[in-house]
Order: sequence, then C-alpha cells, then structure tokens
Amino acid sequence: MLRRYQDLSDLYNLNMDNSSNHIYPVIWHKQKDCVLLIDQTRLPKEYSVVEIDRYEDMAQAIKTMIVRGAPAIGVAAAYGMYLGAREITTSDRQEFLQELDTIAEVLRQTRPTAVNLFWAVSRMLRTAYEFVGSVAELKDILLTTAQTIQQEDLQTCQAIGDHGLFVLPKTPAKVNILTHCNTGSLATAGYGTALGVIRSAWRENRLQRVYADETRPRLQGAKLTVWECIQEGIPVTLITDSMAAHCMQQNMIDLVIVGADRIAANGDTANKIGTYSLAIVAQAHNVPFYVAAPFSTIDFKLVDGKQIPIEERHPSEIYQIGNTEICAKGTEFYNPAFDVTPARLITGIITEKGVIAPQDLINHKS
Ligand code: MRU
Repeated sequence: MLRRYQDLSDLYNLNMDNSSNHIYPVIWHKQKDCVLLIDQTRLPKEYSVVEIDRYEDMAQAIKTMIVRGAPAIGVAAAYGMYLGAREITTSDRQEFLQELDTIAEVLRQTRPTAVNLFWAVSRMLRTAYEFVGSVAELKDILLTTAQTIQQEDLQTCQAIGDHGLFVLPKTPAKVNILTHCNTGSLATAGYGTALGVIRSAWRENRLQRVYADETRPRLQGAKLTVWECIQEGIPVTLITDSMAAHCMQQNMIDLVIVGADRIAANGDTANKIGTYSLAIVAQAHNVPFYVAAPFSTIDFKLVDGKQIPIEERHPSEIYQIGNTEICAKGTEFYNPAFDVTPARLITGIITEKGVIAPQDLINHKS
C-alpha cells in the first residue's frame, strides 16, 4: 500500500538528522516497519513522502521516478528485496530462495541503465544464498543488509566529496562549477556524488557558484538540484542545457562535474541525456570534465560503453510541458533517457577510492 504524507512531523521522530541540509530520499521507518520515500516527482512544489510496505510498490516507485538517481535506486531496490522477502510465507529455504529470485527479477525490470540497481539486488541475493540459518533469521539479515548498503553509500558519497576537492584548480580561489541532472542527496543515500563534491567545495570555501543545467526533458536540474542548493544556501544559477557552450565561451565555468549511471571498464560513462554533448563542449573550451561516482556504478563486466543498455522513456516527457501538449498531432518522438560519454572526453573519475583516470579504472578492479 502506498500512502502519502504531507505532515512530515513523523520524520523528525526518526533516528536521523533531518536538519535542512540533511536530505534522505529513502528512510527505513523502524516504528512503522516500512520505507519512506521523498516523492521526487512533486518537488520543488511539494515536499511529501510516500510510505511503502510492499515490494511491488517499491518497483512502481522506481519505475515512476518517485525515487531516482543511480545510488538511491540501488538503496530503494535493496529495501524492496527485504519487503518482498518478508511477504514470503514458506519456511523452506529452497522455496524461499526461489520466490526471492522472482522478486529480484521484478525489481530488476524497473529501470535498465543504472547499474547500482542490479548491484544492490545481487548483493541482497548473495547474502540470502550464502546465509546459513533459518528463513526467519534470514529475513532479519536482509533488512540489516539493506541498511548497510544505505549507510555505506552515505559514507561513500562523503569520501567522493572529499576526494573531489583535489580536482578543483588552485586558481581562482573560488571556482564556478557546471553540473547536469541531479546528483545530490536526493539521488543517493544522502550527500550526493557530483553535488557531493560541490557541497564539499562550498564547505571549504572553494565554491563561487554552481551552474545547473535544467536537464531536459524531466528537468531534474531545474527541479531538484536547484532546490537542494537553495536548502543549503549554495549559490546556484539555473541555465537551459543549450546555454552551457555559451557560458564556457564567456569563461564563466572552471570545471564540469557530473554523475554517472553506469561506467564501463574502459571508462565510457552513461549518464543523463545531454551529458555527452556537455563533455564535447567542455573539451572544445578546454574546461576539465569530471565524473563523480561510487564503485558500485562501475560495471567491470562491460568492456565499453556500447554495451550499456539505454533506457527509453515515454514520449509524453517531450511532447508535454506540465499537462500542456506542445507538439502538432502526428509528431514522432525519440526519448532516450541516457547517453554515453566516451572515456577520452573525461578528465578523471572521482570515486570513494580517489580520483582515477578513465583508462586506469581497470587496474582498480578488485
Ligand atoms: O533518470 P534519473 O534521474 O534517475 O538519472 C539520474 C542521473 O542520471 C544522475 O544525473 C546521475 O548522474 C546519477 S545519480 C548520482
């Protein structure tokens, strides 16, 4: 059952710091025994939370982008696995694992590009398969594993933020950073990847201003990144995606930092549609172009970016602005949600283990 809350007083009873600069898109609510998700489809107009206690609802929330952003989807899917596990009634281990496999498949079918989803589901399955003990105990272990994945992602993002400070040029003293889509607290367990680096730069007094691409067609930059920056008083200017080249030509941008949804072993990076053109524009203007992402976003099984599955979404994301249709009847559409930036356009990948040249990534495969 998916319930919506607009009175968020409940959130403040949780064991999490919900002061304005701590935004957690996914919260395990111990007392209610369910997951709370900030509904990202309603921000910035409305800050509401939905309550999720069934895995099918979690799958639907991921599909409809109530929760979105590669690492946040991973965390949500991990909790989805637990919610599904606790619905299984058998105490027979083999039957339980079979049913858990089916739940995993439903969650895997939600969004194809962000590898963190598949990574988190596999980790939950591996935990289940390796656990020795009763089914009842295993269910508890799965909840603990989902919480661990969430906690680890938070720490990972903070480490990415710290490592990211090393890529900031020495001059000017305060830099202008251009970013794309939303890679902040909302897109992760908290803190963010590219926006995490921006947060760290702001904290260290190294940030002049963030330029946020609006990120057509779903406008995660305009709706989410700007909202997050405003929550923390980070100076932010919204531009349309097509203004990035002009801003670079005007020397307004010192570096670009974006997130990633899947990185192949050779460093080719899938990220929100528009990232590739941004990388080309950055190279044309000699502006360093960095990707910030956790290791859980790297898919070492893929040799290069050609193998990354690209999600196509409903054309209404293009032909409608709000509820208004803007195109002539009979218009045909193509709506890929991601593109692949070749490794040669990427200056470095900022990870929790440090900043890595894309061609060096393979040497960090553990
Ligand atoms: O379609 P979304 O909003 O889930 O896509 C998310 C992104 O592409 C983000 O920009 C990001 O780089 C990955 S999440 C840190």
